[in-house]
Amino acid sequence: MGLLFPVGEEGDEPLYRRVRRGLEEAILAGRFEGRRLPSSRDLAAELGVSRNTVNLAYQELITDGVVIARERSGHVVNEELTARRVTDPAAPDAPGWLARLEPPPGAAELPHIRKPTDWDGYPYAFVTGHLPSEAFPERAWLRSLREALQGEHRRFSLQDGIDADDPLLAEVICREILAARGIAAGPDRVLVTVGSQQGLHLVAGALVREGSRVLVENPGYPDARHILARAGAALVPGEVDDGGLIVDERLLDVELAVTTPTHHYPSNVTMSGQRRQRLVALARERGIVLVEDDYDTELRFVGRASPALASLDPDAVIYLGSFSKFLAPGLRLGFVSGPPALIEHLRDLRRYTIRHPSGHQQRALALLIASGEYRRGVRHLRDAMRRRWERTVEAVRLHLPDWAMRPRAGGVSVWIGGPHGLDTRELAARLEPRGVLIEPGDTFFFASPGTGGGPIPRHWIKLGFGALAPERISEGVAVIADETKRMLG
Ligand SMILES: Cc1ncc(COP(=O)(O)O)c(C=O)c1O
Repeated sequence: MGLLFPVGEEGDEPLYRRVRRGLEEAILAGRFEGRRLPSSRDLAAELGVSRNTVNLAYQELITDGVVIARERSGHVVNEELTARRVTDPAAPDAPGWLARLEPPPGAAELPHIRKPTDWDGYPYAFVTGHLPSEAFPERAWLRSLREALQGEHRRFSLQDGIDADDPLLAEVICREILAARGIAAGPDRVLVTVGSQQGLHLVAGALVREGSRVLVENPGYPDARHILARAGAALVPGEVDDGGLIVDERLLDVELAVTTPTHHYPSNVTMSGQRRQRLVALARERGIVLVEDDYDTELRFVGRASPALASLDPDAVIYLGSFSKFLAPGLRLGFVSGPPALIEHLRDLRRYTIRHPSGHQQRALALLIASGEYRRGVRHLRDAMRRRWERTVEAVRLHLPDWAMRPRAGGVSVWIGGPHGLDTRELAARLEPRGVLIEPGDTFFFASPGTGGGPIPRHWIKLGFGALAPERISEGVAVIADETKRMLG
């Protein structure tokens, strides 16, 4: 048991009163909701006081009606009292918290991606957004961090850049990353961000007004929907098929469209060349701004990723880059590339939120990329992910032969559809005690696909393999198959 509360500083107040106060505060904070209060023996041992002291504290709380003594089951909280405190309409809500903290309109109803933070304690964690920690190029990163504090680099690591980025990182991103995606850009077209999430947030802050119509893919990335809805966007669902985002009439009256052309999130479909041409042509013709989220382009296992959508027209397409998928999501590093006027505007918005991402991290990342270690790390990661991808595809074919699956050429997950009637949310709840975590697919839809209305599909799973040891994959998929069989009888 962790320490429930500190006993407080020694002073004039007797020890048992301090214990009583700590207990009362913990009760009112809801720390004992749904569980019994500790026995006087356990609490005395934990706080390092005598049982007598604890008994005295409990006695006072019983007298005041905060605690009830139950025969055999010990002390419990007087729920009547705590319920009244929370719900009493006469209770003063002094600064009016409830009214002040209204959920953002438009975002309140959207589902969130939820994953247990202790995912790495599960033997079969089919989750995305995490990489095996051994994949991180630790020695090269430490070397870069150290070098970034030496000689000519030191100034850029430590100074207040106000609204500027590390010039070396901006240059290296243009030379090594954007060029490889077919985008010819100079540093005036790059803004470094705290992950691509901040990139989209800044873009939304600059371009989305209350009621702006913004097209997002359906199914698609829930966090993008949250960011845009919080900026006031009216979201328009864009359909996706085997050629990627469908270019149809839904695009005609939107101001902005956000897409994941390299690997559609969550299905990993790659947008066809023809679609790309049509999308960019339509965007030019109708004045639609396209946002390309190129979050995991390097994780390509068959062939090579086609050039970015932004390479077709870097003035009509805003490009979002992320280092979360190839380095570590916890470093929070990404960038935006777009026309210089937009980048200047985003720079101003960024200045008055975070000024700039850490100079030290920016310089270290620049040195890592310039030394070739970043490329080496990406190749290594790609090989490690390819092995997992192959095993996952094999395991699904073996254990879930009647499920829908089109293995795509990249990504860190496969999108698989169980029999209609299967509720993968319920499946996820039943799998968790068996050590298997899955991501139910309904979270990624915000409208029924197709034009016919109807409920959101509940039979899909985004089966992430990135964080799982390859030898565990088949066993884990077998458990999913077994539990599905039990559920469907
Ligand atoms: C579709 C998509 N875009 C972007 C990101 C990366 O965001 P960030 O760079 O903020 O970590 C992710 C990561 O999960 C993602 O799935």
